[in-house]
Amino acid sequence: MSTSAAYVTFVDPDGVDDEKEIALAAWAEAGITGHIVRWDDPEIDWAAFDAVVVRTPWDYVGRRAEFLDWTRRVESVTRLLNPAAVLERNTDKTYLRALDDLAIPTYWVAPGEAVDFPDLQEYVVKPSVSSGARDTIRTVDRGKAEAHAAQLAAEGRTAMIQPYLDMVEAEGETSLLYFGGRFSHAIRRIPMLVENATGLDEENSRGGLRDPEPDQLALAERVLAEFPEVLYARVDLVRLPDGTPVLIELELTEPYLFLRYAPDGAANLARALAEAL
Ligand SMILES: Nc1ncnc2c1ncn2[C@@H]1O[C@H](COP(=O)(O)OP(=O)(O)O)[C@@H](O)[C@H]1O
Ligand SMILES: [Mg+2]
Repeated sequence: MSTSAAYVTFVDPDGVDDEKEIALAAWAEAGITGHIVRWDDPEIDWAAFDAVVVRTPWDYVGRRAEFLDWTRRVESVTRLLNPAAVLERNTDKTYLRALDDLAIPTYWVAPGEAVDFPDLQEYVVKPSVSSGARDTIRTVDRGKAEAHAAQLAAEGRTAMIQPYLDMVEAEGETSLLYFGGRFSHAIRRIPMLVENATGLDEENSRGGLRDPEPDQLALAERVLAEFPEVLYARVDLVRLPDGTPVLIELELTEPYLFLRYAPDGAANLARALAEAL
């Protein structure tokens, strides 16, 4: 009997998730029959799959509690990758607090706490639960930064205040992809908080393949040592003004994996999935 796995997406992935077909083709090569399903489809019998692979459920942000309930429900009947406990921890960027010395400097404002942070040249203010830079601002105006943090906290959300790292405009952000704990490929990503970001054509509008620097690989591996149980991981790095690489986000939930950009990417993921089964 062949092995089957769900590729979990959301109600409207076409046009945004352009890597599901590539992933499924590689799974088939590895003897795994893939099925594209949306996480909130009430008709799905999750127990029928040998594994349920969370891939692009990109509408969970406003529905986090419902999404996490779903992960626990699925995990009670079959193998969920990444595991529910990892997804719960990873869908709120407060996990960065535990990775403090490896991560971008961040000042936190939880609901009910005073808005308190030092003067910086330029600020980024974002909520701890977000994706695609939703509700994220960049400003040189301290008053605006304070007001946005206060607004998020008033909504019951935890606000994060960070220095704006302008290196992203020159070097770009680097994403390192790991499958089954092994490095697969690295990508130079287009910065999001910049108007008219240039340097890449439309075909490569999400980024391009890059060779990671040894210090980036070393940092990614230190971060991932904390998460030995994951199938897929994307480690997003930037550099401080002094050149030190730091973690800006660890994507263990629903990262775009840049499989179309890396010749072996999809096969690497399929191999890791086959091993996990
Ligand atoms: N402190 C920062 N300095 C420069 N760019 C930032 C900073 N924080 C966020 N960004 C930009 O905004 C994007 C989204 O922020 P991120 O923290 O990755 O949250 P998410 O992807 O979950 O929305 C980043 O990929 C980056 O381009
Ligand atoms: Mg991000």
